[in-house]
Amino acid sequence: MTEQTTPTGPAATTGPSTTTGPSAAGRETAADRTSAADGTSAADGTPAADRTPAAGRAGLLLGGDLPTGPIGYGAMRLTGPGLWGPYPDREAGIAVLRGAVDAGVTLVDTADVYGPHTNELLIREALHPYPEHLVIATKGGFVRGGRDLSTISAIGNRQYLRQSARLSARRLGVERIDLYYLHSGYAQDASFEDQVATLAELRDEGVIRHIGLSNVTPEQLRAARAVVDIAAVTAHYNLVDRQQAELLDAAVEAGAVFSPWQPVSLTPPGDATDTAGPEAVRRVVEPVARRHGATTAQVALAWLLARSPAMLPVPGTTGLAHVRENLAASDLELSADEIRALTALAPEGATAGGPAAPGTR
Ligand SMILES: NC(=O)c1ccc[n+]([C@@H]2O[C@H](COP(=O)([O-])OP(=O)(O)OC[C@H]3O[C@@H](n4cnc5c(N)ncnc54)[C@H](OP(=O)(O)O)[C@@H]3O)[C@@H](O)[C@H]2O)c1
Repeated sequence: MTEQTTPTGPAATTGPSTTTGPSAAGRETAADRTSAADGTSAADGTPAADRTPAAGRAGLLLGGDLPTGPIGYGAMRLTGPGLWGPYPDREAGIAVLRGAVDAGVTLVDTADVYGPHTNELLIREALHPYPEHLVIATKGGFVRGGRDLSTISAIGNRQYLRQSARLSARRLGVERIDLYYLHSGYAQDASFEDQVATLAELRDEGVIRHIGLSNVTPEQLRAARAVVDIAAVTAHYNLVDRQQAELLDAAVEAGAVFSPWQPVSLTPPGDATDTAGPEAVRRVVEPVARRHGATTAQVALAWLLARSPAMLPVPGTTGLAHVRENLAASDLELSADEIRALTALAPEGATAGGPAAPGTR
C-alpha cells in the first residue's frame, strides 16, 4: 500500500522473480508466497497454519506485481443498516479489520459508496499505516441519493471519476490506490470507453496503481482492454449462481484476477444471507463439508478456488471467527469427484435450480 508518508518507491513487495510470467493474475506457489511474505521457505518444515493462514492454496500476482493471498476480505458489511452510514459498533469493526489482517488477509475490498465513505474511513482508522503486504481495492462510479438503497445510481463522467479516485485516496490515506475499480458498466453520462480512459489517465498520474472493472459485460471488458490493461474483474459469481461465467472466461483471457463478490451467500444478489443454499444444493454440499470437517461456506470458497487459478473471492463478514474460517478454506483440498458434483449444481452461465437471478448490480 502506498501511503502518503512514503511518496516514492514500490507500493508493495514485488513478487519473487520465479512468479513473473505472461499472466497478470499468475498464481504464485504457496512457497513463493511465504518467501515473499516473511522470508521463510515453505520447505522449512513450519506447519502451514503457523506460517500464513491463507498460504494453503497458491496466491496471485495482481497486475503482475502485487502478491495477494487467494482469499480476500470484503469490508462492505462494516457499514450501517442498508449500507448507509457508519458501522454501529465502531470498535468491533476496527477489531475485525485488524484481526483480519493479523489472520492473514492480504486484500481488503471496499468502495466509496459503502456508507458512502464510512467504510473507507473505517479501514483507514483501523489499518493505517498499512502493512507493506496489504492490498486495498476500492471502487468509484456509484452514488447514493439517500438512505434507501434504490437511490443508488451510476456516474462516469471524467470530472466525477477524477474527483472520486482522489477523494478515495484521501480517505484511505494513501498517495496511490493499489486497485481502483470502475464500480459498474452502467453509467450513461459518459461512454464506457471514456470512463476507462479516465481511469487510465489517473493511473498515468499516479493516483491509482491498477485498474479493475466491476459488474461489466464481457464485451465491455474487451472494449476496456483496447484502452488499457485491466488487472482485476469483480462480479457476482458463486457455487449456485454462475451467470457471469463468460465474464470469468474473459477475465482469464485478459490475464486479470477474477474476484467474485458474495461468494459464500448462496442467494441471488441483494437477497438475505444464506450460506446453506437451497435444499438441492445442501444435499450435495453438506456431505462434502462433513467429509472434510469443514463448513459449507468453506466448501463454497474451496470450489471457487478449484474453478479457476484466477479466482480471488472476497467473502464479507462482521465476525473474526468467520474471517479465519474463510481464510482456512484455501487449505481445503476437494477431490476430483467432489469438484465434479459441486460443479454440476449449476450450469455455467445460469443459476442453480430455477429462473435466472436478477442481473448483477
Ligand atoms: N462489486 C460489487 O458490486 C459488490 C457487490 C456486493 C458486494 N461486494 C463485495 O463483496 C464482498 C462480499 O459480499 P457480501 O458480504 O455481500 O456477501 P458474502 O461474503 O457472500 O456473504 C456475507 C454474509 O455471509 C456471512 N458469512 C460470511 N462468512 C461466513 C461463514 N464462514 N459462515 C457463515 N456465514 C458467513 C456473513 O455474516 P457474518 O457477518 O455473521 O459473518 C454475511 O451475512 C463485500 O463485502 C463487498 O466488498 C461487491
